[in-house]
Amino acid sequence: MDAERTTRRLFFAVWPDEQTRRRLSHAASGILRRGGGRAVPPANFHLTLAFLGNVEPSRQTAIEAAGNRCRGEPFTLNLDRFGFWRRSRILWLGATEVPEALPALVETLWSGLDECGFERERRAFHPHVTLARRAAPLRRAGSPAPIEWSVDGFSLVESVAGHRGSQYEVLATWPLGVEVLAG
Ligand code: 2AM
Repeated sequence: MDAERTTRRLFFAVWPDEQTRRRLSHAASGILRRGGGRAVPPANFHLTLAFLGNVEPSRQTAIEAAGNRCRGEPFTLNLDRFGFWRRSRILWLGATEVPEALPALVETLWSGLDECGFERERRAFHPHVTLARRAAPLRRAGSPAPIEWSVDGFSLVESVAGHRGSQYEVLATWPLGVEVLAG
């Protein structure tokens, strides 16, 4: 029986605008021809900020409240390097220089999530866009033409498992750098 989903698989992420998504797709297509693996569909490209896992629906309001409370500054991420993690066989695109506002945003998000009883991931935060899973190591990955990604918001996203892999749905988006004016 297709039981009603009792939990939702949620994460906070930075979601690319269409132009950035096209650039990511272009950078990915070249390297994926050589690296193989299970390519992430361009519609799914994103940068995970905080992974929450399978969440009871009753906790979603508290998660959205953490998103509402979270303040951060906009930043530009210069994606300029490919990387490969041997254990997880993930091929990714990342940045040589990470603007301070990005880990600061992750820290602020997690402080709000801590208050709702979510446990932080133990692994250190390595900002990346996953391009392929189960990929083969690349001997000479080279470098992509750098992609300047202007980030002015963050999103709560649901991952839904489907026949053709995961599909992601953006549930809510919050702006960065916007002060709420009192009065
Ligand atoms: P990624 O950030 O390396 O691409 C939804 O599953 C997203 O959350 C994916 O982008 C995934 O990997 C990220 N993620 C982070 N930690 C995860 C975990 N422990 N299990 C599954 N996905 C995780």
